[in-house]
Amino acid sequence: DSQSKLQLLQGHIRDFQDFPKKGVLFRDICPILKDPASLTAVTDLFEEHVKKHYKQVDLIVGMDARGFLFGPLLAQRLGIGFVLVRKKGKLPGPTVSVAYDLEYGKAEAEIQEDAVAPGQKVVLIDDLLATGGTLYAACELMRKQKAEVLGCMVVIELKELKGTDRLKPHGVFSLVQY
Ligand code: PRP
Ligand code: ADE
Repeated sequence: DSQSKLQLLQGHIRDFQDFPKKGVLFRDICPILKDPASLTAVTDLFEEHVKKHYKQVDLIVGMDARGFLFGPLLAQRLGIGFVLVRKKGKLPGPTVSVAYDLEYGKAEAEIQEDAVAPGQKVVLIDDLLATGGTLYAACELMRKQKAEVLGCMVVIELKELKGTDRLKPHGVFSLVQY
């Protein structure tokens, strides 16, 4: 059931103090990827949430780089496509970009101009919500392309950084909270 899947996930997240900078407690999801049952649990829980809360989803949109680990698995489960939001300079052809701040730096997010069509309904996915800067940038990209964001989903939410405030009015669904 859901509870045992969540427990399995909690047991597959490692902490590293002062990475990548002093003062940051890094939550490492690598053990989830290394354990097929845990990875399946993530996909199951995301799939359950999508089916329960969103009527029709056209695309899953994943964040560079760790959103790429979970997004395509979910998209394939749902039988829909996956779109990449990448850090600047990685995508060929015409692109749209937005600058944003991170818990430990700055970056610029980019999508291909034709990745989403106006009116398409999308769900955004990443491994972790910290300040919300990354997902906010993705929401901005979707707004520029006139796509509709149904919601955001992450494996881990760092509550004290209040990322959900930044993402209002979009809801954020998280599996594990710290
Ligand atoms: C991390 C994480 C999220 C983002 C969350 O990615 O994977 O994408 O930060 O932080 P925020 O909510 O404050 O935006 P990072 O930019 O470190 O890049 P990576 O996935 O390429 O390691
Ligand atoms: N991305 C932003 N903050 C993070 C953290 N504390 N652990 C892992 N990934 C992160």
